[in-house]
Amino acid sequence: MTTAKLFYDAFKTKSGKTITIGTGTGTKWKRNPADKQINQELVDQIVSTINLGFNHIDTAQVYNTHEEVGAALKKSGIAREDLWITDKYCPGRSDETPTDIIDLALEQFGTSYIDLFLIHHPFFDEDNSVTLEQAWTELIQAKKDGKVREIGVSNFASVHLEKLFAISEKYGKEYVPRVNQIEFHPFLQNQSKDIVKYCHDHNILVEAYSPLAPLSRVGNNNPLIQYLKPLEEKYGKTASQILLRYTLQKQILPITTSSQQSRMKQSLNIYDFELNDAEINEIDTIGQANPYRAFFKQYDHVL
Ligand SMILES: NC(=O)c1ccc[n+]([C@@H]2O[C@H](COP(=O)([O-])OP(=O)(O)OC[C@H]3O[C@@H](n4cnc5c(N)ncnc54)[C@H](OP(=O)(O)O)[C@@H]3O)[C@@H](O)[C@H]2O)c1
Repeated sequence: MTTAKLFYDAFKTKSGKTITIGTGTGTKWKRNPADKQINQELVDQIVSTINLGFNHIDTAQVYNTHEEVGAALKKSGIAREDLWITDKYCPGRSDETPTDIIDLALEQFGTSYIDLFLIHHPFFDEDNSVTLEQAWTELIQAKKDGKVREIGVSNFASVHLEKLFAISEKYGKEYVPRVNQIEFHPFLQNQSKDIVKYCHDHNILVEAYSPLAPLSRVGNNNPLIQYLKPLEEKYGKTASQILLRYTLQKQILPITTSSQQSRMKQSLNIYDFELNDAEINEIDTIGQANPYRAFFKQYDHVL
């Protein structure tokens, strides 16, 4: 079976390995900051996913899972340069700047660089001392200093990205946003107006979080699940594999999470089949008729 040329070929681990879809350490794994104990279950889950072949780990300041990522890295014995680690700065949480968070994360990971560093969302509190402009300028500086290899954003609409491009202009084209990580699944095909096309037109890799929302968050008997049933049989794949494949065929790189190793294993096995255009169109159509947003609902009017 031939697969289309990888649309995320430009993103490689430091050692030159193609990155896999991401394994997330947020959502169900988020640790309450009051809980000082490292979550050993998550450490073991990350080690297992690395052993399965995942080389792409997604974390964030707000998940409070940096220490688990660091412990898993150590425990797995994998060479740092064979892994891709994404981290995110969360605006409006404290006076800490992206530089503070990057420096702390490097310590917690026990590494000298982060592969991809994102601004988690564009909603900067006006009372917060850190502005969007300052945050982006600090990410640019972190890249110049070699603390991060790539910089980008999450949950940004085109209007926010335009602001970043205007700042980046002063620094050169290697300092533009390279990634926008957004909620994406059939029931939310554009987190904000035309955002996927905007990103593709501007050479920004789109990453999907919650790509399995139609299975895990929307009711059991939704029409998409019904539609996927015969496809599961046709391709010998599970509904989740079909949804991840759909995401890839949309030129979007999924970040997924499961506490079950068998599901994580399945998630990597999505490169040996291809949905046809009619199937993609039908998934699109069913999704458009059943809009659902899991995150940032309070920002619906902006996004
Ligand atoms: N940038 C952002 O604002 C943002 C927001 C949200 C998430 N994220 C990142 O994206 C990652 C993934 O997000 P997500 O957890 O929402 O992604 P997801 O992969 O769409 O959903 C994961 C959930 O789906 C369930 N699941 C997995 N396989 C399944 C299957 N075959 N059938 C039914 N349910 C299945 C899992 O439950 P089991 O454990 O029982 O398998 C888990 O609860 C997060 O961990 C985080 O790193 C980023």
